[in-house]
Parts: sequence; C-alpha cells; structure tokens
Amino acid sequence: VNATGASPADVLVDGETIVAVLAPGSQLLGTDLAASVDRVVDASGKYVIPGGIDAHTHMQMPFGGTEASDTFETGTRAAAWGGTTSIIDFAIQRTGERVEDGLAAWHEKAAGECAVDYGFHQIIGGVDEYSLKAMDSLVDEGITSFKLFMAYPGVFFSDDAQILRAMQKSRETGLLTMMHAENGPAIDVLAEQLYNQGKTTPYFHGIARAWQLEEEATHRAIMLADLTGAPLYVVHVSAKQAVEQLAAARDRGQNVFGETCPQYLYLSLEDQLGARSEEWGDFEGAKWVCSTPLRSRAEGHQDAMWRALRTNDLQTVSTDHCPFCMRGQKDLGQGDFRAIPNGIGSIEHRVDLLYQGVVTGEITLSRWVELIATTPARMFGLYGRKGVVQPGADADLVIYDPQGHTSIGLGKSHHMNMDYSAWEGYEVDGHVDWVMSRGSVLVDETGYVGTKSHGKFLKRDLTQYLV
Ligand code: URP
Ligand code: ZN
Ligand code: ZN
Repeated sequence: VNATGASPADVLVDGETIVAVLAPGSQLLGTDLAASVDRVVDASGKYVIPGGIDAHTHMQMPFGGTEASDTFETGTRAAAWGGTTSIIDFAIQRTGERVEDGLAAWHEKAAGECAVDYGFHQIIGGVDEYSLKAMDSLVDEGITSFKLFMAYPGVFFSDDAQILRAMQKSRETGLLTMMHAENGPAIDVLAEQLYNQGKTTPYFHGIARAWQLEEEATHRAIMLADLTGAPLYVVHVSAKQAVEQLAAARDRGQNVFGETCPQYLYLSLEDQLGARSEEWGDFEGAKWVCSTPLRSRAEGHQDAMWRALRTNDLQTVSTDHCPFCMRGQKDLGQGDFRAIPNGIGSIEHRVDLLYQGVVTGEITLSRWVELIATTPARMFGLYGRKGVVQPGADADLVIYDPQGHTSIGLGKSHHMNMDYSAWEGYEVDGHVDWVMSRGSVLVDETGYVGTKSHGKFLKRDLTQYLV
C-alpha cells in the first residue's frame, strides 16, 4: 500500500534496499522469485506499508522541571513495536546558548541509542544575531527545519520581532519554519487568574489555553510567513478555528501546512473534566495535560480534525511524543495545574490509532499511509529514501494485519517508559505484525528483535512539499 494506491505485490529486498516491487508470481531473470531468495516472509492477506515516520518527538527532553521519561533507546524501541521506523526529534537551543552546542548535545544523546532511524529539527529558543547566523549552517548538517514557540514565555518563547527575523532566515535558506502557535503571554495571564480563583485541577490547563489563543497565534504566524515568504508548518493543531486559518492561507496559495496528533482526534476536554481515579482523585486529568490542550467535543474540534485530514487542510499526524510519568513527574503539579509537565506519550500507537480512521471510514487506506509515512517524508526531505514502497527506497517495511486486534495501554504492557497510558483500555482493529528497517527485522512473531545501535542519523534534504 502506497499513498498512490494499493495492489497485490511481492517486495524484493536486497541488503538495506527495496530492489523490486513485482506482480505476484513474477519471474526475476527467468527464475521463480520465491525459489531464488534467501528468505520469504509471507504477508498474504495483509498490508505491506512503508515504515511510519513520526516527525514530532521529544525523547529525554528537559522540560517542566523534569525530563521526558523515554530515552532515545526506550522511545525508539516503542516506535519500532508500533510500526514507526523513523523519528524526527527536536534538538534544543535556549537563549544565550549556541545552536551548534545544542545540536551537538542531541547528537550525543541519540548516537548509538536508537532502534530506528532518527533526524532532528532545531528548536531556536533564543532568536538573536548569533543563532540567526548559526542557522546558515543547518542545511549542510541535514537539519532542514527549525521550531519556534509563541507559547512558554520564559522557556522557549519568541516575540513577533524574533519570529519575523527567523522567518526571513527561513525564506533565505529554505529551512521550514515549524511553529508552536499559541499566544503564551495571554495564556499565562488566564492561568494565573484561574489559579488565584482556586481553580487548580488539571482541567483548567485546557481552559487557560483557549482556542481563541490558538487561532490568534496561528493567524499571526501565517501573516508573518506571508510577509516574509517563509514556508510554515504549524505543529499540534487542535482547534477547528486554527484549521480554518490554515485552509484560508492554503487557498491563497501560501506554503502553509498543519499537523495534528492522535490525542486531538480521539480525546476531549470533557473526558479530562470527568477523569477521576481512586489513586489520583481528580488529579487523574493530569494524564492528558498537553499543549495545545485537548479540546471540547461539544464544540466539534475532533470532527474538524478528521475532516481536515480528508481534505488535506492538515497534512500529517505526528504524536508530539513527550511522555512523563504520573509518579514523580506529573504529580509536581498537584494543587497547581501550571506545574504539571505537559505532554502525552503515544509513539507506539500512532499507526494503530490512525488505522481506526480507515476502519470507521474517516480516511481511505492510501490516505492512512500518506498521513503516517509519505507526507512526513516529503514534508521533511526524506522522500524517495523513506515513505514509499518502491525500488531504490530503504527497506523500511511494516506488515499490517487488518484482521488483527491490538489492546492498548500500560495494563497491556506497552513499551514506552511511562507508568500510565493516555490510551488505557483502547481496543483497536488491526495489528503491526512485522517491522523491518533498512533490511533488518526489528519486530517479528517472537516480538522485538532489533538492537539499540541499528538506527542511523538521517541527514535530510529541504522540504519536498512546497507548492
Ligand atoms: O505538551 C506538549 N506538547 N509538550 C511537548 C512540548 C511541545 O510544546 O511540543
Ligand atoms: Zn509545542
Ligand atoms: Zn512538541
């Protein structure tokens, strides 16, 4: 199954590469294919798809007074279990730090630790004359996208002057501008007011991060991108009004793209409001504290995300995998939602969760592959090598069983390093049966058979998605 369609085929792999995709029963150089190869893997009745590409992860990210709980080792192993064979994580530069040092630190963390291939985007947490200059070298390093934050004042925040300057650099170099589009200063005022009114439980994280402040920031980013000519990719879109802004800009012909995440397709603010457990009381809702926040189902945001995935107003689904344990991490925010480290871990479940959209008729089979693999490859300069089952591409392959079944959650022993699951109790049709990365089998019927040194750094080309 490719983004362009599906047909019965045999896939021939030699070394790390796909060398042929042939009609069943084809002869190769006059000999019967099955008789002339070292090994045959029977995928009959199942889908063979390109390995998933999760273009938004935060392994062992220092954040919220703690560090994301999956290391590159545990996080990429969980990715492999779930049919994802490439990730793009975020290297971080903060105000006053050198971009080169931030990037080198992330290379250090990841090298030799990854079960699957990995690339980096560069977070520019402090736009100044030094970081702007350093951005000139990123393309040569294979880092062809950078991320700015309109949220998180005091942590990674960029003001409009900084955004404008960085976008001018984006236009000049071809680097794709990725944007966390939420009006952080306004959110912080609302959050403080809520806290002072005694509204301290996790649910109020979502109330403070109102959709108006996502729409406003998305619009502002789009206008600054239009002015400068920068290509813009808005991460973790959750508000239907933000999608409307993206769609309008795309209709005007702007190079503006949007990503959503499984949590914004399936989970809601109402779910979070009602969340209670014996162990955590109403602090249970901390399991779903993420930014942008879960949105109201009554307001129709989830339906709008699915629709936008069909109409290509949104182009990709990444996880924004940023896991924290409840015990010792999320619980830092008991009594004050502002101190809950924000993030959800889903890297293991993205391929399965999106496949539910095929089962329920929200998206087609080919669109599923396009959203989880092909467009991320094109968007981030990996297409041809990754994101497609065709001769010459890396042999990153997943055998997906549509008759299979997957029970999700910590109770079903997920492989992410988290003491809870945001997806506890989810039962999904379909199953990742077998996973190969560059010709090496990572998951087979016995379970995980990969190694932590298999994954290689992906030097990426410029985005291949511009209009
Ligand atoms: O809540 C989230 N999304 N945490 C990760 C950091 C970010 O903003 O992407
Ligand atoms: Zn973000
Ligand atoms: Zn993120």
